[in-house]
Amino acid sequence: MKVKVVGAAAGGGFPQWNCNAPLSRAVRNNKPGFLSRTQSSLAASSDGENWVLFNASPDIREQIANTPELQPRADGPLRNSPIAAVVLTNADVDHIAGLLSLRERQKFTIYATARVLKTLAENTIFRVLNAADVERRELPVEGLTDLQGSDGPLGLSVETFSVAGKVALFLENEARGTENFGTEAGDTIGTRIIDRAAGENARDLFYIPGCAGVDDDLKARLRNAECLLFDGTVFVDTEMQDTGVGEKTGARMGHSAISGPQGSVAALGDLNIKRRVFVHINNTNPILEPGSDAEKFVKEAGWEVGYDGMEINL
Ligand code: MLT
Ligand code: MN
Repeated sequence: MKVKVVGAAAGGGFPQWNCNAPLSRAVRNNKPGFLSRTQSSLAASSDGENWVLFNASPDIREQIANTPELQPRADGPLRNSPIAAVVLTNADVDHIAGLLSLRERQKFTIYATARVLKTLAENTIFRVLNAADVERRELPVEGLTDLQGSDGPLGLSVETFSVAGKVALFLENEARGTENFGTEAGDTIGTRIIDRAAGENARDLFYIPGCAGVDDDLKARLRNAECLLFDGTVFVDTEMQDTGVGEKTGARMGHSAISGPQGSVAALGDLNIKRRVFVHINNTNPILEPGSDAEKFVKEAGWEVGYDGMEINL
């Protein structure tokens, strides 16, 4: 299975368009060692020809331009795309807005939970993806799905499971409580991507770009995993406040912090996960600064800091 990190940043990207904080400024000014990152997306393929996107970010046009595997085949018909399916892990704007750029009468399949499909159906702008070309298929909150493009099976399966999270920001309903704002099962899922075509030698990878906390169920699922790409939004829960750019904590946004006793490095430390990569990294996160204490901390704990174009072959 071939996997490529298409966008390693959280919503806003790195640098974020309106951000003048030190990290965004450093990357905007090409400070040595800093890498710009586009918004959250991953691509996976069993055969290297047909690709499944996991999340469609607002940066998708730039991302396709930067990713030869996702560009039309020169020996194909006049209109063609290797993107055969898009799997959505939630309805956050950084994960669905890119669908609008895939509107040129190209056949592909959208996979999402009933909750996320309902959001797409209720936002009529997504009708630009004509149902005759773009089939919507429901993912179970818990279960295994063999992924299909318009021409049949893609050789990949996805196991979906509920993770702690929050409904998308634009769907928050305070009337349903300021604890979870009307969040329901299926609003945020984790995925295990399995190369079914590899048969006995099937390899797998967990992709969990949004997760509000690591519980025992998730730990059991991730034990002995080959590879994990995990929510690296914030290093410290209060990071947006500490850096003065905003009021919200990581927890309030539905993201667990990397550091601290409940953080992902501690919680996922003893599970014998062979490869661990942070993705969905917010522009305030100090792991984005090469040589920072935060970057050293995650590297010493065995984690990699994801970047656009990062390839993982399993
Ligand atoms: C998130 O991951 O918390 C969201 O993408 C934030 C947003 O909607 O910008
Ligand atoms: Mn996001």
